[in-house]
Amino acid sequence: MKPAALPERPPSPLQEIRHTELDAKGLRLLVKRDDLLAWSKNSALCGNKWRKLKYNLLEAKTTHQTHLLTFGGAYSNHLAAAAEAAKVLGFEATGIVRGEETLPFNPTLAFVKQCGMRLVYVNREAYRYKSEPDFLPSIGIDATGVFVLPEGGTNMAALRGCRELAEEIQAQAEADFIAVACGTGGTLAGIVSGLKESCKALGFSVLKGDFHRKEVAALLLEAGAMPADNWQVETAYHFGGYAKWKPELLDFMQEFRDQYGITLDPIYTGKMMYGVFDLIRNGAFPRGSTIVAVHTGGLQGVAGFEQRFSASGVSV
Ligand SMILES: Cc1ncc(COP(=O)(O)O)c(C=O)c1O
Repeated sequence: MKPAALPERPPSPLQEIRHTELDAKGLRLLVKRDDLLAWSKNSALCGNKWRKLKYNLLEAKTTHQTHLLTFGGAYSNHLAAAAEAAKVLGFEATGIVRGEETLPFNPTLAFVKQCGMRLVYVNREAYRYKSEPDFLPSIGIDATGVFVLPEGGTNMAALRGCRELAEEIQAQAEADFIAVACGTGGTLAGIVSGLKESCKALGFSVLKGDFHRKEVAALLLEAGAMPADNWQVETAYHFGGYAKWKPELLDFMQEFRDQYGITLDPIYTGKMMYGVFDLIRNGAFPRGSTIVAVHTGGLQGVAGFEQRFSASGVSV
C-alpha cells in the first residue's frame, strides 16, 4: 500500500557557517538544510520541491486523482521531483518536456523515465503557450480527471508549503534575513507570506531580467497576503542567465563544499550563496544580523550539468 501523502518530518537543521568575513562584520550565517528534507538519501524529492509538492499531492489524493501531469525543461528539478513523488505515492504521471527528444536520455530524464513518467516533447515555440487553457488538447492530451501542476510546481498550494518553511526557520532562529534562490518566484512568495515583520526575505534571481518583483507580488496578491515591503529580489547574480555559469561560481562552490561540507548546485543554490557572500563583503547587512540561507536542494541536476559542460572540463 502506497502512502497517501508526504510524511511529516522534523524540521531540517540549521548549519552555522564560520568565516572571518562574518566575524569582521558582526554577522551570523546559517544554512537551512532543506536539501536534507528528502524522501530518501540523494532523492530528487527534496528541498523546495518537497515544500511545493506537499499540499499539491495531498489535494490530488484527497480529491481521488490518480494521474499527475506537469511541465519542465530537460534538466528540470521539478520534473524529477514530480516523477519521484508520483512513483512513491502511486500516481500515473505525464511530463511535458520543453524541446525535442535527445537520445540517450540525460541523467534527469533517465531518472524521470525510470520513475515511470510518460514524456511528451513539445517544441520551444509551442511550449510558450503551455499555460493556455487549450494547450493540452492542442497537443492531443485529454486532461479530464488529471491533476495538472504548473511548471516549477508554483501555485497556491506550493506557496502554502513554502510558508511553512518560513515559519519553521523563524521558530528555529531569530532570523533577520532569509535568502533563497528564485526561479519562478513561488518559493520566495511562500516565504514572504510567512514572515514576521522583523524579518526580510531576499530572493536571488537565477535568470536574467527584472520580472520577479511583479510576479512575486502577483502571487502574494492571489494568496491574499497582506501587502508588505519586507522582501526584495537581487538581480546581479544570474551569471549570464538560467543555467549559465562562470569559473568563479564553480570555484566558490568548491571552496564552500571543502570548508563546510555542503554541496551546492550551480543552477540555483550556488548562485544564491555566492550572492549572499558578495552582499556580506559589500556591507549590505547591518551589524548583529542573522542571515538564514535556504539550501533548496537541486543536486539531482549536477550530473546533467557536468555532462552538458564536459567539454569545458566542468566538475561541481
Ligand atoms: C533547487 C531549486 N532552488 C530554487 C528554485 C526556485 O524555486 P521557485 O521556482 O519557486 O522560485 C528551484 C526551482 O525552480 C530549484 O529547483
